[in-house]
Amino acid sequence: MTVSLVGAGPGDPGLITVRGLELVRRCDALVYDRLVAEELVAEAPEGAMRVCRETLSQAEISELLVRLGRRGLDVVRLKGGDPFVFGRGGEEALALAAAGVPFQVVPGVSSLAAVPAAAGIPVTHRGLSSQVTVVSGHDPDALAPAELARTPGTLVVFMGLGTLGALVDGLLRHGKPPATPAAVVSRGTTASQTVVRAPLAEIAAAAESLEQPALVVIGEVVALAERLAGALPQTVDAVRAAV
Ligand SMILES: C[S@@+](CC[C@H](N)C(=O)[O-])C[C@H]1O[C@@H](n2cnc3c(N)ncnc32)[C@H](O)[C@@H]1O
Repeated sequence: MTVSLVGAGPGDPGLITVRGLELVRRCDALVYDRLVAEELVAEAPEGAMRVCRETLSQAEISELLVRLGRRGLDVVRLKGGDPFVFGRGGEEALALAAAGVPFQVVPGVSSLAAVPAAAGIPVTHRGLSSQVTVVSGHDPDALAPAELARTPGTLVVFMGLGTLGALVDGLLRHGKPPATPAAVVSRGTTASQTVVRAPLAEIAAAAESLEQPALVVIGEVVALAERLAGALPQTVDAVRAAV
């Protein structure tokens, strides 16, 4: 195996998988996303090549993986959360497959459920939500607010902080109750996690000062955080301190 597309988890370095960490610890080259915990980057062998993808385009990243893979190096492409959940891991896998470079995918803990959980929000809950709809808020015009407004269960929005106002307006316009519980979790699972909860009609204003990365959760399950969040330590560091 030469190239491994590895999920780093949602932020807390302790949330990478055992297999993912093993691969990082013995790689020749580590190509990592900006949001990956620096503790994980530090786990690569001292002599390993380290490339942060920040300044590279997606095409350049895929090319680099193909080039390093063809040299027979053990390459780890370390990506935030899970490589195949809004992570462009599919594009990188397709490029490697087309080039005939052997690769594997090592799943990661996606922020999809882990970030709400860290804020005391179970994305499903018997009697409250048996369905989760996951969307990207990157381009709110590409979403179908009428459909989303009448879809029951929990709505999870990735990359939706900057466009939250437009998304909320669309949902309200199409009949979603303004009092629907909503939350935005910024930097979830990390020591700087911040959570804002408010009724849907007020969430965009309430979350204005939050920082990226942030995940939006809309639905009745958010109300459970009132009872659960208080029982959870506020940050992952606090969890460690409490153990
Ligand atoms: C490009 S997507 C990558 C998602 C990743 N592949 C996953 O499975 O979690 C980046 C978006 O994921 C969400 N996200 C990732 N990590 C997060 C975190 N620690 N806290 C809140 N949101 C996060 C945010 O919506 C962010 O804009």
